[in-house]
Order: sequence, then structure tokens, then C-alpha cells
Amino acid sequence: MKKRFVSMFLAAVMAGTMVAAVPVMAEEATEAATEAAAAATDVDLSDKKVGVCIYQFSDNFMTLFRTELENYLVELGFSKDNITIVDGVNDQATQSGQIDSFIADKVDVLIINPVNSSSAATITDKVVEAGIPLVYINREPDADEEARWEENNWNVTYVGCDARQSGTFQGELIADLGLDAIDKNGNGKVDYIMIEGDPENVDAQYRTEFSVKALEDAGLEVNELDDQVGNWDQATAQQLVANSLSQYGNDVEVVFCNNDAMALGALQSIEAAGRTVGEDIYLVGVDALSEALEDVLAGTMTGTVFNDHFSQSHSAADAAVRYLTGEGNEHYIGCDYVKVTKDNAQDVLDMVK
Ligand code: GAL
Repeated sequence: MKKRFVSMFLAAVMAGTMVAAVPVMAEEATEAATEAAAAATDVDLSDKKVGVCIYQFSDNFMTLFRTELENYLVELGFSKDNITIVDGVNDQATQSGQIDSFIADKVDVLIINPVNSSSAATITDKVVEAGIPLVYINREPDADEEARWEENNWNVTYVGCDARQSGTFQGELIADLGLDAIDKNGNGKVDYIMIEGDPENVDAQYRTEFSVKALEDAGLEVNELDDQVGNWDQATAQQLVANSLSQYGNDVEVVFCNNDAMALGALQSIEAAGRTVGEDIYLVGVDALSEALEDVLAGTMTGTVFNDHFSQSHSAADAAVRYLTGEGNEHYIGCDYVKVTKDNAQDVLDMVK
């Protein structure tokens, strides 16, 4: 799927005016690919080597991301044989070794989803020293690190969405229900449990903070019953939510999960505890995995937030091309999340499936 097609689609989804026009979309897609290829006329991308480091292949969202990234790089004119994508198996030492190998292989550009964002300075130093342009994705390095790229005018950028927005959308999905619907135990507060992703990751930190802030900003009083680390993982979250439900019982009114994989695990435990989403408990995630979207449509999830892997992977590939053509990039390339309720879940599902 091409960038312009996706942004047009998203604009329609966000405006709630989605009209299906498949032939027009296909035409748009071809047109956009031609434009992208034309932008790179002076450089033959087919012989450029791209190294891609993913923090962990088993992560559902990063699987969607890397699949789309590879497809789009090929559409832009890279040869599939010259794109190497490696699994960091959630271990920074493994990933650092993979980066060393890419440097030794003299790849032309690197796209890196770091295992630990705090290792970014070390990674940047060796990649810059090797003269290879670098596009970070998904796990944002801290402000000091990003400032170094700017100060030194290095060919290093970050592509991602602002996790504060996804947290805010999660909180709003709950706040919009109104206190009367949420407050089953009648204590005048929103009693919630929070299941966090990897705590080193700014996505987890911001989603946790801003989902609760959105409730408070809507004038609701909050009561945190439990806050646990599920590391983005379904099975871990299932266990954590089972524990919380057995400890706090019917007082749990809302379950916030920093991503959909964990929300799917939470749902298994909610159902096992005999609770019903939408009736006596509410559940939100982030990513818009197809399974979660099906749950939103069925009412078994209150809502989710679309983490646009199309836009992020395309922007990352486009940034890589702009380094190869010498055009260069800003040091931060953002994108928007989309709030997903029953009203637009089908449109998003049609796009991600
Ligand atoms: C988040 C995403 C999570 C997980 C994480 C990995 O943006 O919502 O599901 O993939 O990235 O860093």
C-alpha cells in the first residue's frame, strides 16, 4: 500500500466519511509508486543494501511493521535480495552484534528498532563513524540523543508517532462513556488496572501517564487498583489480569492495556472471570490488530487506537531513500494515531486485513 493512498484513506477514516472505491485506490497506489521512484531517479536503488534491525520478531505489531516495510522498499525499487531484516530476540547484545555485521557488510543504510532505546547513543556513534545513514523506528531515543544528531548534522533521524496521543485517545475512549456507565461500584471514581508494555520504552511510559491524565482532564476522579508490567505480551497480560481480577473482583471497572496483544490476554481473563466488557467492565488497547478490531466490532473490547504501521514503515523507507539521494531528512518524522470505536473499526479493519 502506498503512502498517499494510506493518508487519503486515513483522512477519510478520521473524518468518518470512508467510501470504498477500490479501483481508484489501486490507481492512486500506482501513481504514488511512480512518483516515489521518480524522486530517486539519480540513484539506482536496486543495488543499494538495506539493513533492518527489529527488536523482536515475535512482537505482533512489529511483525506488521516489518512486513509492510519490506514490501514498500521493494515497491520503491530496492531488490528483495538486498534487504536484510534481522531479529534482535529482545537482547541488546545480540542486536549490537547484528549492527556490527551490517557495518562490516557495508550496507548503504540502516533502519533500527532498538532493543533498548538507552543504547541509542552507542549505536549512533558506531553507525555514524562508519558513514552509514541511520533511521530509528518505533522506540524513540531520548531528547539528548536526538539533540546530538541535530547539533552534529548527522544523517540520523527517528520515525514514529507521539505516544502521548495514543494514551490520551485511550483515556478519552473511557471518559466518553461517562461516570454513570463506568462507576459500577458507585464510589464516584474510575477504578482501573494498568497493564504496561516494556517500561524502558517511552510508548509504555506515555500511554500509561496520558490515558489516566485524559480521565482527569475530563473531570473524572481516578483510583489505580493495580499497575503491572506485561512487556507487550499477551500471555503475560492474561496472567496479570487474572491475578488483579481475583484480588480486586468487581471493583475493577476499567482495564487499560498499553497495546492490543495485552488487551487480548486481558479479555481472556475477563471472560474467564465471568465479566462482560461493555456491561460490567471496560477494556482498551493500542495498535488496532485485526483480532482486536473484531473485538471492538463485537463489543468485547471498548476501543483501541490505530498505530499506523503503514505510515511509519513508508516514512522510514522514504527517509532512507532521501539519505541515499543526498536530499537528507529532518531529525524527527512524526505521524498520527487514530482513535478506534465501533463506529470506524470496520473501516480500519478493511485497511489492515
Ligand atoms: C508499540 C506497540 C507495541 C509494541 C511496541 C514495541 O508502539 O504499540 O505493541 O510493538 O511498540 O516497541
